[in-house]
Amino acid sequence: MVGTDHLPLSRHVEMHLGGDGPFAAEMGTILGRIAFIGRRLSHDIARAPLLGRLGLAGGDNVSGEAQKKLDVVANDLLVEGFSGIGSIAMILSEELDEPLLPDGGGGGAYVLCIDPIDGSSNTEINGPLGTIFGIYRRRGGGAGAGIPLPQGSEIVAAGYILYGPSTLLVYTAGDGVYGFTLDAGQGEFLLTHDRIRCPAKGRYYSANLGGRRGWDLNLGRYLDWVTEKDPGTRRPYSLRYIGALVADLHRSLIEGGLYFYPGSAGKPDGKLRLLYECAPLAFLTEQAGGRASTGTRRILELETHTAHQRCPLVIGSADEVAIYEGFLKNGKPN
Ligand code: F6P
Repeated sequence: MVGTDHLPLSRHVEMHLGGDGPFAAEMGTILGRIAFIGRRLSHDIARAPLLGRLGLAGGDNVSGEAQKKLDVVANDLLVEGFSGIGSIAMILSEELDEPLLPDGGGGGAYVLCIDPIDGSSNTEINGPLGTIFGIYRRRGGGAGAGIPLPQGSEIVAAGYILYGPSTLLVYTAGDGVYGFTLDAGQGEFLLTHDRIRCPAKGRYYSANLGGRRGWDLNLGRYLDWVTEKDPGTRRPYSLRYIGALVADLHRSLIEGGLYFYPGSAGKPDGKLRLLYECAPLAFLTEQAGGRASTGTRRILELETHTAHQRCPLVIGSADEVAIYEGFLKNGKPN
């Protein structure tokens, strides 16, 4: 699976998306811009303690979460980087109260949804962080505020950047999933993970078990099942939770396993946001052969009602997600 020819991202998009059609050209521009911003962010994140960019920014985002300085830096870089790109009609960001219409939201064919910094509770502890992006085909609507919110079924490309020991950009444009490692010296993302396939099974599970008492009782049964000893199914599974969805999902994609953030008594829709967290990662995971659902419904079939709407998420290895869904429905694996 690990590629040896280290093709640069720009060349890969050109070759892989089929040369001169408009889709290839538009994705080339958009992904090129994401890579450019990702390089800047990788540099800024690595130097954040030196630049005084750790800690809180002083305000809350629209979801009521305290913004970190890096959330603001990353959001500004992305918004600035995508202003003036004619193909983007609207930008939705976790850090912006309202959708942004670059250049008045004129003729662009796509809507860009971003989580500029995923896992920002990790900024102070030098833990992994991410950036998530989803590119949706714009559905009709006039210019300006008349552009409708995208639906999951309209997503055409998605990916994430994982800022860890190396910086990795993983993307799909609907035909497989590819990972590129940043060579900072060369200033290029180079292909290192060709056609990522998520193993159907895996023995890692990732969740914030602190919320367990508020969950559906059947999820308690699921946790009993994953921690039960059964060598035939390689149980007990091992718990791994980093607090950055991108990093936890990346493990599942490479080694197998699942991540879940269910709804709870006071928060039936959980924590994660549909348009810039769940749907992009669901699209990418399905492209890698995995699955993503709320536990009862496929993420990409949910209807969008508001820009920052939340939904429960279970995502990762196809068989493991199916077992989780079985427990949620019946209190047993299927
Ligand atoms: O907001 C997204 C996120 O930071 C994910 O990256 C992460 O998995 C989750 O929230 C962590 O939330 P909690 O602190 O509730 O475990």
